[in-house]
Amino acid sequence: MKIEIPREVERFGPIVFHGVQKVYELDAGLRNAKNDKDDNPIMKRIAYDTQHEIQKQMAIVVPIRNEKIKLIEGVLSGIPHHCLIIIVSNSPRYPMDRYKLEKDAIEHMEHFMDRDFLIVHQKDPKLGEACAAAGYTHLLDKNGVVKDGKAEGMILSKMLAYICGKKYIGFIDSDNYFPGAVMEYVHEYGAGFTMSNSDYTMVRISWHSKPKVVESNLFFAKRGRASEHTNRILNRLISSFTGYGTETIKTGNAGEHAMTMDLAMKLDYSSGYSIEPYHYINVLEKFGGIIANPSEDVMNQQVEFFQIESRNPHLHEVKGDQHVKDMSKAAMECIYNSPICPDALKENIMEDLVTRKILPKGEKIGNTLRYYPALENFDLRKFKEVLKNQEYAGLFKAKLPEFKETKVSKPIRDTKLAKESVLPEKGKLEMK
Ligand code: GDD
Ligand code: MG
Repeated sequence: MKIEIPREVERFGPIVFHGVQKVYELDAGLRNAKNDKDDNPIMKRIAYDTQHEIQKQMAIVVPIRNEKIKLIEGVLSGIPHHCLIIIVSNSPRYPMDRYKLEKDAIEHMEHFMDRDFLIVHQKDPKLGEACAAAGYTHLLDKNGVVKDGKAEGMILSKMLAYICGKKYIGFIDSDNYFPGAVMEYVHEYGAGFTMSNSDYTMVRISWHSKPKVVESNLFFAKRGRASEHTNRILNRLISSFTGYGTETIKTGNAGEHAMTMDLAMKLDYSSGYSIEPYHYINVLEKFGGIIANPSEDVMNQQVEFFQIESRNPHLHEVKGDQHVKDMSKAAMECIYNSPICPDALKENIMEDLVTRKILPKGEKIGNTLRYYPALENFDLRKFKEVLKNQEYAGLFKAKLPEFKETKVSKPIRDTKLAKESVLPEKGKLEMK
């Protein structure tokens, strides 16, 4: 892959937000002296061999709820061979066992592909028991199984990837129509990790386009309907603190994203479809210097965000207007209710929601999301121990470090420190 270096960079304490980078060649050859000599200072060449080394250390997670089996098969065929595929399904098991159908189809593919898959059902009671053993009961419902939600499935997959000993974890939705796009996303994840200087790195995909049929013609829309609004509000949040307008953030809702496991273990998460915008918010809450600086290592190494514009169009299942509105409201809610959200921005969010008819005038935004504390403060050796007889236990390759008990078991937003954060005064740095 050949990719331009970031043109814009926004810095916020130890957090580096790189502007969107364009891909110029999907395949830029092998690592060898001749190819390397051609390197250009404003282009980064990521050789096939380099991608391969990263892929061997990467888990790709495919969350599923009620998708067509043919679609899922296409997605799986696009994931490079050396990545470990983790499938977390929350498809219904009654009256028809859809998970059984998915598992049969995936195991059939497994024979032909000759590779390992780790397939679980989000509601498997054994997984609930494993979370409870680790002390991570936050993820469980009153029946002791993992709660519904895309984020909840993703958090579970992070615990699994960790005990499998993976260094990187990437996410690809299971309703993608183009296997070629899936493969490209994984290469872009690899490109981001290669360009990074930090163990705390996240790579987010900005789609080149989303094809739609408009008046019998194909129209290639630039952004999804929710992300345009999320991006604007996230950029305003940064501007409220720096005093400079910015448009750097273009991937507020990016479902396709990857991160180092080191970062994955340190972040708090929010529920459902708000998880992706909350990544930005939580990194600002934890490492932006507004609330606290809990990790010296992060302060020294920085947190790097890469945003890479893919070349393939992104075509996925259409799930309706209400679904998009709910997703957009969830994004706004996690920003609004953050202890780092200044009052002026809260007003902007409310105006935006009313204008888009997502919230009736005068109604409060509410506090409907759940927040999950960072996994690093829970004993995942106990999680692993409970799962040691499961059919996929052979994939648990990590040599887990000694667990150091800490008292931090809350998300940062619920701590005393969060209530003491100093925010920009209303009216002083308001961005309109
Ligand atoms: N395991 C699991 N559990 N998977 C789920 C659940 C759940 O409760 N709910 C949804 N999924 C799976 C879907 O099957 C799909 O593969 C993926 O999560 C994304 O869900 P969609 O319902 O297709 O979401 P979307 O396409 O509207 O939005 C996607 O793109 C947005 C913008 O990039 C999501 O990835 C959003 O999170 C993202 O913000
Ligand atoms: Mg989708």
